[in-house]
Amino acid sequence: MFSQPVALVVATLSFSSLVAGGLTSPVKFRRADFDSTCSSIASQLSIPNATVFSSNLVTKGTNLTFPEQDPSCVNPTISPTSLVVPADVCRIALAVNTSERSGIHMETWLPRNWTGRFLSTGNGGIGGCIQYADMAYTSALGFATVGTNNGHNGTSGRFFLNNSDVLEDFVFRAIHTGVVVGKDITKAFYGSAHTKSYYLGCSTGGRQGLKSVQDFPEDFDGVMVGAAGNQWANLIDNFSHIFNVTGSPDAVGFVPLEVWKNVVGPDVLKQCDTIDKVEDEIIEDPSLCNYDPSGLVCSGSGDNSSCITAEQAETVKRIFSPFFIGNEFIQSRLTPGAESSPEALGVLLTGDVATFSTEWFKFVVNKDPNLDVKTLGPADWQKNIELDPFNISTFSGDISAFRDRGGKLFAYHGQIDALTPPNNSVIYYNHVSDTLGLSRSQMDDFYRILRISGMFHCSQGPGAWNVGQGLFGDTSPGSDYLDPEKNIVMATVRWVEEGTAPDTILGTKFVNDTNSLGVELSRRHCMYPFRNTYDGVGDSTKPESWSCQLVSDS
Ligand SMILES: *[C@@H]1O[C@H](CO)[C@@H](O)[C@H](O)[C@H]1NC(C)=O
Ligand SMILES: *[C@@H]1O[C@H](CO)[C@@H](O)[C@H](O)[C@H]1NC(C)=O
Ligand SMILES: *[C@@H]1O[C@H](CO)[C@@H](O)[C@H](O)[C@H]1NC(C)=O
Ligand SMILES: *[C@@H]1O[C@H](CO)[C@@H](O)[C@H](O)[C@H]1NC(C)=O
Ligand SMILES: *[C@@H]1O[C@H](CO)[C@@H](O)[C@H](O)[C@H]1NC(C)=O
Ligand SMILES: *[C@@H]1O[C@H](CO)[C@@H](O)[C@H](O)[C@H]1NC(C)=O
Ligand SMILES: *[C@@H]1O[C@H](CO)[C@@H](O)[C@H](O)[C@H]1NC(C)=O
Ligand SMILES: *[C@@H]1O[C@H](CO)[C@@H](O)[C@H](O)[C@H]1NC(C)=O
Ligand SMILES: *[C@@H]1O[C@H](CO)[C@@H](O)[C@H](O)[C@H]1NC(C)=O
Ligand SMILES: *[C@@H]1O[C@H](CO)[C@@H](O)[C@H](O)[C@H]1NC(C)=O
Ligand SMILES: *[C@@H]1O[C@H](CO)[C@@H](O)[C@H](O)[C@H]1NC(C)=O
Ligand SMILES: *[C@@H]1O[C@H](CO)[C@@H](O)[C@H](O)[C@H]1NC(C)=O
Repeated sequence: MFSQPVALVVATLSFSSLVAGGLTSPVKFRRADFDSTCSSIASQLSIPNATVFSSNLVTKGTNLTFPEQDPSCVNPTISPTSLVVPADVCRIALAVNTSERSGIHMETWLPRNWTGRFLSTGNGGIGGCIQYADMAYTSALGFATVGTNNGHNGTSGRFFLNNSDVLEDFVFRAIHTGVVVGKDITKAFYGSAHTKSYYLGCSTGGRQGLKSVQDFPEDFDGVMVGAAGNQWANLIDNFSHIFNVTGSPDAVGFVPLEVWKNVVGPDVLKQCDTIDKVEDEIIEDPSLCNYDPSGLVCSGSGDNSSCITAEQAETVKRIFSPFFIGNEFIQSRLTPGAESSPEALGVLLTGDVATFSTEWFKFVVNKDPNLDVKTLGPADWQKNIELDPFNISTFSGDISAFRDRGGKLFAYHGQIDALTPPNNSVIYYNHVSDTLGLSRSQMDDFYRILRISGMFHCSQGPGAWNVGQGLFGDTSPGSDYLDPEKNIVMATVRWVEEGTAPDTILGTKFVNDTNSLGVELSRRHCMYPFRNTYDGVGDSTKPESWSCQLVSDS
């Protein structure tokens, strides 16, 4: 089914003088050899169905811009307009046809200081965008890194219209093709194959990682998935359903964004911030917060600055409650604390249908660019779930093939994520455990979920959210980032290569989220189902004052 093997033939290259070691000791190029190999490799690679455009040496400190990237891709944390490259790499750009009417653009960033490891990055949302910040980050950590455009350019779904091959790339083929080709380029470049293979992605990138675990268990040894957007059709439906709850800005119960931010947000904290015994704007375990907005209702008509109407309070209540129709579970609640996130205020609660849902219904489900997505209802939601093209829902519970070859799956989820509810990670985890009949300790052997308190979608937030999941403007992720106690990438490497599983990860909140300004808060995050618990006496900004407790009610 998923057969689209991309066989690769590398033109005869004489790398023998460059090969310093076997599979276990990474190749160390002499400086001049790295440079000359980099300049010549583009013309020497011969890859079926591919066109190699360029190979360029990019030295540490280069301020790289991406003028060829679709303008809709620009995103300060993932695909910035420019970034200062933290380590020397050989940057190779190519295109690979995946069918007669589809193909990917991809890049490989091969570090001078190679550890022998390979890594694929992922994508986000509907994109369409090589995540350069991730590529810069993991190549600086010593991984031969690949990234693709996921089969189309930019964040619009219009390329899916009447072209199921582009859709197929988006669902699974782009990543897999990038991995197959990227591993061969890595081998050709360094003269020996990679030792271990990794994946790092968040959101749609999380879904892509789970797709690899489910259907391409050979691709990776260690897979890091953040805020995974699997159960894709459900998520897309959920965005449409949320709009049904918020209504348009002219609806009677509509809650304006500034009310969410300035009235509801503070009231949530008032009720729930100190459940964990620390007043720090971090609700350590939001599952304990049963927020009730009724105290905000005023007798008059509501002024949207200190009080709201009963109808608005009803909207708030529905957003913060799991949604059922009869006995049928329709949607996880918005987690209290998530209402103030950029995703809630920018995407979810705006009084318009979230862009992911809009693109998907227009270009995939209804195939009608002029569709009025505000009119969607249960019949459309059902149609979407039944369509599930190429199994994009990515919800297969049998990942035994991945486990049996020693694969490790490291999931992480911000506990105040508004876009992909943290509950989703638990739902999939439970599905795997039920499908394979595994106890929690058996799951622990190969699959763990890190619960990051005070983190929004993939990064940012009031909590100690930086766990080494990306670069975030840091231009020198060298030594400090190599500590597996606080870096999920290196923790996963240690798990895969030394068998030491991570029990906690020390998260960091930098002052103004700027590494060079120093640390504001550190907290050791726990793995599901453990809950981080304050000792009641110590400095709450220090990790020693907290411990992971197993609790029955989470
Ligand atoms: C890729 O596909 C395009 C369009 O079908 C074609 O023109 C091009 O020659 C193909 N490239 C390779 C390397 O096969
Ligand atoms: C990198 O280049 C861009 C565009 O030319 C510029 O806006 C940015 O300030 C530069 N960054 C640094 C750190 O110099
Ligand atoms: C997609 O972007 C790449 C650069 O990343 C560019 O070379 C290619 O032409 C673009 N494709 C289309 C269809 O615009
Ligand atoms: C190259 O592309 C063609 C057309 O899509 C396909 O039939 C063929 O299998 C591809 N070749 C390889 C080696 O992937
Ligand atoms: C090369 O990588 C190793 C292992 O990751 C690291 O210890 C060393 O500091 C790196 N060297 C340079 C020059 O970056
Ligand atoms: C897509 O296909 C449908 C019928 O299958 C057709 O009506 C429509 O015009 C096509 N749209 C585009 C943009 O090709
Ligand atoms: C929400 O759904 C109900 C029931 O299908 C419908 O009557 C109502 O018009 C919808 N509201 C919005 C804002 O879509
Ligand atoms: C409060 O916001 C709602 C929804 O936008 C609006 O209908 C209402 O007029 C506002 N009330 C005041 C007093 O501004
Ligand atoms: C919303 O997502 C959940 C999974 O989190 C799913 O069970 C539910 O069916 C979805 N709702 C709709 C309307 O599809
Ligand atoms: C989490 O999902 C389950 C369905 O698997 C649902 O019963 C529960 O209410 C959801 N919890 C939250 C907090 O949304
Ligand atoms: C989706 O997955 C199911 C079960 O794993 C499989 O039977 C089915 O063929 C797949 N469908 C597609 C379109 O890939
Ligand atoms: C952090 O940001 C705030 C608000 O932008 C600013 O007032 C403050 O000076 C910054 N702190 C530092 C140490 O730069």
